[in-house]
Amino acid sequence: MSQPRPRRLRRTAALRSLTREIRLSAEMFILPLFVHEGQGDQTISTMPGVLRHDLPGLLARVQEAADLGIGSVILFGIPDHKDAEGSQAHAEQGVVQRAIREVKARFPAMTVIADTCLCEYTDHGHCGPLVAGPGGWTVDNDAALPLLAQTAVAQARAGADIVAPSAMMDNQVQAIREALDGAGFGEVPVMAYAVKYASGYYGPFREAAGSAPSVGDRASYQMDPAGGYREALREARLDVEQGADYLMVKPALAYLDVMRVVKDEFELPMVAYNVSGEYAMVKAASAAGMLDEKRTVLETLTAFRRAGADAIMTYHALDAARWLRE
Ligand code: PBG
Ligand code: ZN
Repeated sequence: MSQPRPRRLRRTAALRSLTREIRLSAEMFILPLFVHEGQGDQTISTMPGVLRHDLPGLLARVQEAADLGIGSVILFGIPDHKDAEGSQAHAEQGVVQRAIREVKARFPAMTVIADTCLCEYTDHGHCGPLVAGPGGWTVDNDAALPLLAQTAVAQARAGADIVAPSAMMDNQVQAIREALDGAGFGEVPVMAYAVKYASGYYGPFREAAGSAPSVGDRASYQMDPAGGYREALREARLDVEQGADYLMVKPALAYLDVMRVVKDEFELPMVAYNVSGEYAMVKAASAAGMLDEKRTVLETLTAFRRAGADAIMTYHALDAARWLRE
């Protein structure tokens, strides 16, 4: 028998790309965007290259994405006014609702996803209202449900193509599905943050959105990183049963194994959320000359695809789309 020579298939760039299994393209990227109610774009110290946009800045960014072949954005709002129940989340003139209307008016072909949560809108920074409980307070799961449902309906009414509940309240997908159907939005899909861990990797996002909890943490509702596959499968299954159309695993990089396990179990499309801390690490190391940014980012995005991601939410989307064109 001849000696095995796998290197024959790697001799040239053309040979390598002829049969590679994993491919990346801009159309599978979802660009996360922050929009605030003030004037002008603002930088975010922990996320170089990412901005808090005003409406004109947001539209300019969406134009850039569209020009690079990116077909989807997800919007996060930073309201001027916060209160205990996060009422601006579902206000008709809430920051995200206004942004959705503007983006859809100018870019009807752009898929606009709305993050459905309360933490950017509550004065305490939790993803649902607080009530007295053991330890002084707790997040009131069932009081959050109608608020999340109203928020999803307000987003759909403004023109959102997809709503993406991220609060990790039990039964939130069902509450949102029923409310959307009842309001005549039966065609709006739910992209469920189904498997979402209580993670240190959200730090930069919370600075960007001003949504860090003022008391306690999110460990009673977001998942335990050490919980294992059964907890992940249960969370995903519950969202599937409640009518989710897409499943997400978040963060992505430290949970590639979970993504693969969940992907193999369910038929729904899988979304990887390459979160703010993952972005910040690569940006900081690249700026310090420790990593080659382009190589590292494309390798990481490739890993999400290999682990089963169909779509990838990433702050690197604009750069990656540019690099893929080179
Ligand atoms: C809101 C939300 C968060 C992120 C997405 N939606 C913050 C959190 O749960 O604390 C984090 C995204 C990121 O870190 O890039 N619930
Ligand atoms: Zn939240």
